[in-house]
Amino acid sequence: MRRKIIAGNWKMNKTAKEAVDLVAGLKNQLKNIQDVDIVVCPPFTALTEVVKVIQGTNIQLGAQNTYWEDAGAFTGEVSCVMLKELGCAYIIVGHSERRQYFGETNETVNKKAKAVLSHKLTPIICIGERLEEREQNKTFEVLKDHIENGLKGITGEEAKKIIIAYEPVWAIGTGKTATPQQAQEAHSFIRGLLKELYDKETSEVIRIQYGGSVKPDNISELMAQPDLDGALVGGASLKLDSFVKIVEGSK
Ligand code: PGA
Repeated sequence: MRRKIIAGNWKMNKTAKEAVDLVAGLKNQLKNIQDVDIVVCPPFTALTEVVKVIQGTNIQLGAQNTYWEDAGAFTGEVSCVMLKELGCAYIIVGHSERRQYFGETNETVNKKAKAVLSHKLTPIICIGERLEEREQNKTFEVLKDHIENGLKGITGEEAKKIIIAYEPVWAIGTGKTATPQQAQEAHSFIRGLLKELYDKETSEVIRIQYGGSVKPDNISELMAQPDLDGALVGGASLKLDSFVKIVEGSK
C-alpha cells in the first residue's frame, strides 16, 4: 500500500509572518492525522520560520525549486545543500509555472531531480500536458516525454524515492479539475511507463500525486482512484480550513 501524500504548494504567497500563522493553525488542526504524509512548501523566505513551528510534528517541509550545483557563482539561485540544512525534506522540481515562465526544460528538471536525490532529499517531479496538447490527443506523448527525459539516468533504487506529480496544466488554478477518470487514466499510463523504465515492483512503490484545482469537495473522489497517491495543492493550500479538509478527505 502506498501512503498518501498531500503537499501544499504555496507558490509566491505568504510573507514569513503570514506563513507562521497558517502553519501554526495546521499544526494544531492536523495533529491527529497519522496515516497521511503532510508537506508544506512555503516560499524560500519563510522556510526558516516555518520549520521552527513544525519541528517535532507530523508536518514536513518542502521547497518549491532548487539549483543543481551545491554552491558557486549562480546569482539568485538556492542549492539543495542550503535547503537541506534548513530542514527541507522535499523539493518540487519542474512545476509547470517554472516550465512556462522560467524556461525549465526536461533537461533542467532532470539535473535538479538528480541533485535533490544525491542529497538524499525527495524530489516532487511535476509533469503534465497543456490544454492544446490534450485537445490534439497528445497527452500520452507529452507524459512519455516528461517521464523519459525527466528521469534519465535515475536508477531504480533512486526512483523508488521520487514522487511524481501529474498536473494537467489546464487544471492548474483554473477551477477545472480533471475528472477522477481522466486523472486515473493518466496516472495508470504513468505507472505503466515507470514499469517499462524500471520494473513492476519499482512502479508500484513510486507515489503519483494529482495536482490541479484540488479542493475539499473533490479530494475524496480523486483519492478513491487506485493510482492516485496524494495531491499537490496550490490555491486551496493557502487557507487553513480548506487545506485541513483536503488532508482529512484524502484518507
Ligand atoms: P492549484 O495549483 O491547486 O491552484 O490548481 C496546483 C499546483 O500548481 O500545484
